[in-house]
Amino acid sequence: MYSEKVMDHFQNPRNVGEIEEASGVGTVGNAKCGDIMRMYLDIDEETQIIREAKFKTFGCGAAVATSSMATELVKGKTVEEALKVTNKAVMEALDGLPPVKVHCSLLAEEAIHAALWDYAEKHHIKIEGLQKPKSDISEEEENEEW
Ligand code: FES
Repeated sequence: MYSEKVMDHFQNPRNVGEIEEASGVGTVGNAKCGDIMRMYLDIDEETQIIREAKFKTFGCGAAVATSSMATELVKGKTVEEALKVTNKAVMEALDGLPPVKVHCSLLAEEAIHAALWDYAEKHHIKIEGLQKPKSDISEEEENEEW
């Protein structure tokens, strides 16, 4: 049911933890399944490059695996490039997810956006293409087509 990569990132998640005095922190949840994800980003203010990304996820195995992969994918990228790390990109990097678990990858995408939003607000900057993230993605999910 799960790819080897999903199992690997679930059993050995990368970048678990917190970043003290992070440049941006974002927390999102899904009220329907009750899962919660928090992302921490350390961003170089001059280059806008994400130096470090860490996460804490209280959720299902796919939520852990997608947060792990999402942090791996955004590390070393600029904030603008990180916006391209969509839930689809995370799923592709994990060799796919079962349809009922697609929403878990959306949580990872939204958590990155929430951390970037926090960074932008703290530094009074605007990140092109970034929209205000939702703290609960369960409503949006119903209208999404997979
Ligand atoms: Fe909700 Fe996985 S079951 S995030």
